[in-house]
Amino acid sequence: MDPEELKKNWLLQNEKICICKGIPRKFFIEAIRKGASSLAEVNTIVGSGSGDCKGERCGPKIEELLAEYHAKNNRKSG
Ligand code: FES
Repeated sequence: MDPEELKKNWLLQNEKICICKGIPRKFFIEAIRKGASSLAEVNTIVGSGSGDCKGERCGPKIEELLAEYHAKNNRKSG
C-alpha cells in the first residue's frame, strides 16, 4: 500500500465519531464486527452517547456505520 493510501486509511480509522468522548471510528467498527447490532448496544460497549450532547452528534454517525456494515454483510451472504 502506498504511503498516501496508508495515511488516508489511518485518518479514516482514527476519525473521532464520538467527539464528546474522543472515541475513534475503529472502536465502533470493532464493536459492530463483534456483534453489536443497535445504537444502544454500540453505546454500551464503546461508551459513546453519554457525553455533553447525549449522543445527538454521534448517534446518527453510529446508525450510519451500522447500516453500512449490515448492507455490506447482506451483499456478501446474499
Ligand atoms: S458526540 Fe458522542 S456523546 Fe456527544
